Amino acid sequence: MAHTRAVDIRPLRWLDPPAGPAVVLLDQTRLPAEEEYLTCRDVTTLIDAIRRLVVRGAPMLGVAAAYGVALAAYRGDDVPAAAGLLGRARPTAVNLSWGAERALAAWSGAVAAEERRGEGAADAATRAADAATRAAAAALAQAREIEAQDAAASAAIAGHGLRLIGERSRILTHCNTGALVSAGEGTAFAIILAAHRAGRLARLWVDETRPLLQGARLTAYEAARAGIPHAVLTDSAAASLMAAGEVDLVITGADRIAADGSVANKVGTYGLAVLARHHGVPFVVAAPVSTIDFTAAGAGAIQVEQRPGQEVTSFAGNAVAPPESAAYNPAFDVTGAALVTALVTEHGIAQPVHAGTLHALGAMRKPREGARSDVSVER
Ligand code: MRU
Repeated sequence: MAHTRAVDIRPLRWLDPPAGPAVVLLDQTRLPAEEEYLTCRDVTTLIDAIRRLVVRGAPMLGVAAAYGVALAAYRGDDVPAAAGLLGRARPTAVNLSWGAERALAAWSGAVAAEERRGEGAADAATRAADAATRAAAAALAQAREIEAQDAAASAAIAGHGLRLIGERSRILTHCNTGALVSAGEGTAFAIILAAHRAGRLARLWVDETRPLLQGARLTAYEAARAGIPHAVLTDSAAASLMAAGEVDLVITGADRIAADGSVANKVGTYGLAVLARHHGVPFVVAAPVSTIDFTAAGAGAIQVEQRPGQEVTSFAGNAVAPPESAAYNPAFDVTGAALVTALVTEHGIAQPVHAGTLHALGAMRKPREGARSDVSVER
């Protein structure tokens, strides 16, 4: 990966032939107890891994989808169909379809170029095989580029976000937003790491993040590896913690941000934002600009993934509710922009968060060469 990380966690790696082609995933469902890897040699296995949260978190889902398209191309699968299936494997994180579409576009462009180039060539069979390999290589190059861009975005988010952190800050975070979800050090967690390194982090409060415990299992794992002083709390303890004046700032990531600044993130985020407003605590969201979906006008345009009820009615494989009990298990919720103090992206900070400040960030999505990328959109 392009960015050197202090915390040595690698959620995904591409395996070239002859050992591959394959996408190797650190199995996040087994952390922190076991560091096991799953080798995905076909798109079906990768999609199943995405649905089971073996690989997860918005930016890494974009990277995984792009490598999945490359995998389909090297295998000689129906690449547009594979890209479609990958992009729809989970509905909320926009990076998933974004990554699949970008890799598909690179592959399609290469296929078209090969067709133009191949006209009149002698051996049709050899020509077709070579052309397919070059098109697959174009998809792979695009996946690598997305990965490198995510690493760079992560570092830039950390730099911008640090400006919002005061001395001896006690920060509360939800879900998992670190190296496990990024080619760099993450989004919200990258800012937390930067604050820790700058000596500004007094304590990290880690919401356990029911029902799948991304906070307790994954964020605490990353915090422990980085030597961050932290404590895990049940999601429902955040209210009394804030009432006691023990939280200076809340920072979370995002799975999809609508054009009006509505933020879809792990279920429980909305409750935290309401609590933060009630207690006068800043509520900050960190995400790469690729997480902003300008085609979604507002909260109503964001599809929230509903997951199996069993995730709620059982705990660590043991039933905790009667078998006849139904469950309500949305994986995400949506927080209105009015509750978000600031949005930190790789291009700067939107503060306040609204359609205008997001639009300005979107305009920087493809910065011209030499253009500044540290612009604060509005303060
Ligand atoms: O269901 P998950 O674990 O994929 O949900 C992940 C989150 O909600 C993260 O907070 C979000 O993707 C931001 S990751 C930088």
